[in-house]
Amino acid sequence: MSEQLYYTDYLELDKILDSQHPKSDLKTDEMLFIIIHQAYELWFKMVIHELDHVRDIFSQDNVNDNAGEMSIAFHKLKRVAKIFEVVNQQVNILETMTPMDFLEFRDLLVPSSGFQSLQFRIIEAKLGLKMEQRYKSNYYKNTRPGGFNQQDYETINSVESEATLKSLLIKWAERTPFFDESLWKEYQSKFPVVDGLQKFWSDYKQIYKSSLSGSVELRQFDELERIFYKEGLGEFSMEAMRAVLFIMLYRNQPIFQLPFDLLSTLIDIDELLSQFRYKHMLMARRMIGMRSGTGGTSGAGYLEGALRQHYIFKELTEVSTFLIERSHLPVLPKSVKEKMSFNA
Ligand code: HEM
Repeated sequence: MSEQLYYTDYLELDKILDSQHPKSDLKTDEMLFIIIHQAYELWFKMVIHELDHVRDIFSQDNVNDNAGEMSIAFHKLKRVAKIFEVVNQQVNILETMTPMDFLEFRDLLVPSSGFQSLQFRIIEAKLGLKMEQRYKSNYYKNTRPGGFNQQDYETINSVESEATLKSLLIKWAERTPFFDESLWKEYQSKFPVVDGLQKFWSDYKQIYKSSLSGSVELRQFDELERIFYKEGLGEFSMEAMRAVLFIMLYRNQPIFQLPFDLLSTLIDIDELLSQFRYKHMLMARRMIGMRSGTGGTSGAGYLEGALRQHYIFKELTEVSTFLIERSHLPVLPKSVKEKMSFNA
C-alpha cells in the first residue's frame, strides 16, 4: 500500500517553520519582522508564477480566444491584483512594532534590506520596469554591500533581457485587426476628412477637439496629435495607442469586454504596487524617520522617488485624457461590427 500523504510533509512545514532565526534575543520583535518578510516573499513567488503564465499566453503570435486564453490571462492578473491587496494590508501588522522596538535589532541587519528582494525586482522587471526608468538607478543592481549578491545580480540581468508583459501587450495591441481600410468603406463620416486621415481617425480627432475648452485644455490637442497621429507614447507605438483607445471607447462591444477588463486590471496592479510603495514608505518613515536605510539608500527620500517614478503602465492611464462622451462616439459600420462579432 502506498504511503498516505501527510499534511506536514506535503507542505514541507518542517522547512518553512524552521526558517525563522532572529539575530537578536527572542524578546525583541524580530520574529515578527522575519515572518512578515517571509509572508511577502511567499506571495511574491505566487505573483511571479502567475505573471509567467500570462507572459506565455501573450508571447504567442495570436492569443487564442477560442481556447479561452484571454480569459485565463485576465483571471491570473486579477489574482495578482488580489494578492497585492492582501499583502498591502500586512504592513498594518508590522506597524504594531514601535520605532524603538525596531531599534532593538535594526543595527544587526545592516547591510541587508528589502531593497535586495530578488523576487520584488523580478516582478518589476517581468511587468516591464526598465533600468533607465528607475529612480536613482545608481543605487540599483550592483554587488556592493547593500546591493545584490553575484547570483541574484545575474538572475536580474537575465530576467531583464526577457520580453516583459508590457512589451508583449504592446505587440498584442498592435495586432488589433479592426483598422484595415477595407472594413471602413461604408463608414459615414461625421466631418469632412482632414489631413488625409483614415475616416474614423479623422472624425475622432475633430470630435475630441470640439470637446476641449480653454487654452489649457487645447494644449491636450497637441498631445493627441503626437500620441495618436505621429509618435505614440512611451514604449507604446502610435498603432498600439490607437488600439487601446479604441478598446476603451468601444468597451461595450462584447469582443472588447475581456481586453478592457485586462487593461483595467493592469492599471489596478500598477496602482496596487504604488500603494505598496506608499504604505511601505510611510511605514519606513515612521520607523526610522530621516535615517538612511539598512541597505544604504537615503531611506524615505529614495522610497518617495521610487513611488513617484516606478509606474509601469502609465501609458494606459494616459488614455483617459483622450476619451470622448459615449453619445459622441462615431457609429461603427456593419463590416467592422461583423468583424467584431464572435461569429466572424
Ligand atoms: C521596519 C520595517 C521596514 C523598514 C524600516 C524598511 C525600510 C526600507 C528602506 C529604508 C528601504 C530603501 C533601501 C534601503 O536603503 O534599505 C527599503 C526598501 C525596500 N523594502 Fe523595506 N522596510 C521595512 C519593511 C519591509 C517589508 C515588510 C517589506 C516586504 C517585503 C519590505 C520590502 C522592501 C522592498 C521591496 C524595498 C525596495 C523598494 C524599491 O526599491 O522600490 N520592507 N525598505
